[in-house]
Amino acid sequence: MRNTIVVTGGAGFIGSNFILQRMQEKTAPIINLDKLTYAGNLRNLGSVAEDRGYEFVRGDIAERALVRRVLETRLPGAIVHFAAESHVDRSIRGPEDFIRTNVDGTFVLLEEVRAYWSSLSADEQKRFRFLHVSTDEVYGSLGPDDPPFCETTPYAPNSPYAASKAASDHLVRAYHHTYGLPTLTTNCSNNYGRFQFPEKLIPLMILNARDGKSLPVYGDGKNVRDWLHVEDHCDAISKVLQGGRPGEVYNIGGWNEKRNLEIVETVCELVDEMAPRLPRPRHDLITFVKDRPGHDRRYAMDARKIERELGWKPKETFETGIRKTVRWYLENDEWVRGVTSGSYRQWIETHYSS
Ligand code: NAD
Ligand code: TYD
Repeated sequence: MRNTIVVTGGAGFIGSNFILQRMQEKTAPIINLDKLTYAGNLRNLGSVAEDRGYEFVRGDIAERALVRRVLETRLPGAIVHFAAESHVDRSIRGPEDFIRTNVDGTFVLLEEVRAYWSSLSADEQKRFRFLHVSTDEVYGSLGPDDPPFCETTPYAPNSPYAASKAASDHLVRAYHHTYGLPTLTTNCSNNYGRFQFPEKLIPLMILNARDGKSLPVYGDGKNVRDWLHVEDHCDAISKVLQGGRPGEVYNIGGWNEKRNLEIVETVCELVDEMAPRLPRPRHDLITFVKDRPGHDRRYAMDARKIERELGWKPKETFETGIRKTVRWYLENDEWVRGVTSGSYRQWIETHYSS
């Protein structure tokens, strides 16, 4: 066994930020196993593509033979599992891909990892880690005065996406409990930052605001999410990988609850400041549209366990993080044009026309 890390879904939003952060630290070679769905983008990793210590393998985590070949030939010491279908609205329109990747794919990955791990020496088995990246959405929806989700909050997933992630979390838990696989699970709140596919709230609003297009806010805009800068999330994952206790769950969040409308208003102000002015303030582009079916009202994370046990705390404030993020999208038009073609345009047309 080597100290190589196999990262699944490393061409996506969080996975590519994680790989770039780890490559800077040069602590372990990385194999990026990604299917390259619409959400996977190798351009994110252009700066490390030629580095020794980084390798890209195109493939599906649900394909047993391929996963086995990667494990048996690269002999990793850890898996960091990001690969997933990740967009709630897409899961409402078509849940099947979510079951296939998030449930079946995680199952295949666990089975192959278990076989590989069983073949290791006792000492290697002890050092091996399987880190499963999950979400706060598995816990369901909070009322306005409820305390934030903690690691022992009962699961109550409400969307097909959340249900598929909850199923994968349960499988990971069972593989630790039953087989002793040294797993770690992280459940994180909403991320924002560079490389996020612009179907998600913040990048969608930045680009629509830049272009003077309408800003579609679901329902009354008072749904609350807890926002964390993606680099803080990646840093937390590294801390859990390094020092987390096998079998444990760590909740990660930004202590930064905001209503969606507040987020969109902040984006409008920043785009007004940084992009060429429009005849009217961008705020006027806000349009309330039909609510998402089953829309969870509020998410909030209690991240005291990871702070207490591993000394992790977010470094970026929302004010500095959102400013950097708006600037990044405005300055990286080539990246934006690369991802907003074909399938992206089709999604926007189908989803927002109805
Ligand atoms: P993303 O949609 O941007 O990226 C997903 C990546 O997985 C893409 O590169 C895609 O090509 C790849 N992929 C999809 N199906 C695959 C398959 N069958 N085999 C191999 N690769 C496949 O997602 P993201 O926002 O970067 O999220 C990464 C992980 O973090 C997910 O597991 C998600 O549930 C979790 N998470 C995300 C957030 C968030 O705010 N974005 C918050 C908490 C947790
Ligand atoms: P999203 O970025 O899809 O993340 P999630 O559903 O995983 O929290 O959405 C964040 C919030 O923004 C969510 O409450 C739904 C809302 N939203 C809108 O109001 N309009 C939009 O066009 C989108 C994409 C999301």
